Amino acid sequence: MTKVFAHRGASGYAPENTLPAFALAEEQGADGVELDVQLTRDGQVVVIHDEKIDRTSDGEGFVRDYTLEELKAFSFHAQMEEYRGVKIPTLEEVLKTLKPGKMQVNIELKTGIFRYPEIEKKTIDIVRRMGMENRVIYSSFNHYSIQEILKLNPLAETAYLFSDVILHMEDYGKKTGVQGLHPAVYHLYMPELLEDYKKSGLKIRVWTVNRKEDMKKFIENDLEAVITNYPDLALEVRKQV
Ligand code: G3P
Ligand code: CA
Repeated sequence: MTKVFAHRGASGYAPENTLPAFALAEEQGADGVELDVQLTRDGQVVVIHDEKIDRTSDGEGFVRDYTLEELKAFSFHAQMEEYRGVKIPTLEEVLKTLKPGKMQVNIELKTGIFRYPEIEKKTIDIVRRMGMENRVIYSSFNHYSIQEILKLNPLAETAYLFSDVILHMEDYGKKTGVQGLHPAVYHLYMPELLEDYKKSGLKIRVWTVNRKEDMKKFIENDLEAVITNYPDLALEVRKQV
């Protein structure tokens, strides 16, 4: 059965990559969450999508220029009262919240070894400390980062993210030791690619699947997961397939 992963948490309803967004994903019954990690100036792993804090918070500037304590002074932009004052969480805070549940956690390493030396080791160490190795899938657009993860933990579950259509991506994925591919939704509008990925035996998790008709198609094709901002909607569609 195709799993439903909440993209940056249930980000269609709550501020992305925050504790309330992950809690809501769980409440809605998602099978997993996807989240993004970056490093602070003092080397803490924090959960945030952009390299800068401007779009999502009341602060400005690069995550890497702030210590964790400084970052915690900023709050998320929020329309709804209940989300006012929400802070950028650390990876550890998120995993602590998720640990009692069952959801899988797809950790996307942003930027990776070029900008954040040792982000891979720091991330792996936190996951190990939390005892959540068997619930985590590491992904990145930076495939060097994924290779680094595999060097540090050959048993880690990994996947390549990619947004351009690349020929024979599935051969490359298999040859270089990942178990999954995370293509952008528009790749799979090409029936040939959908068929190639299905035949590959790799776990295909598609992002970001927010339209009902796409959810239906990928669920019918029995892909590994749809990564969506609206997990409740995808779960509803899955019930009807
Ligand atoms: O991991 C899937 C998706 O999140 C990748 O794109 O920009 O939303 O991090 P982005
Ligand atoms: Ca992401």
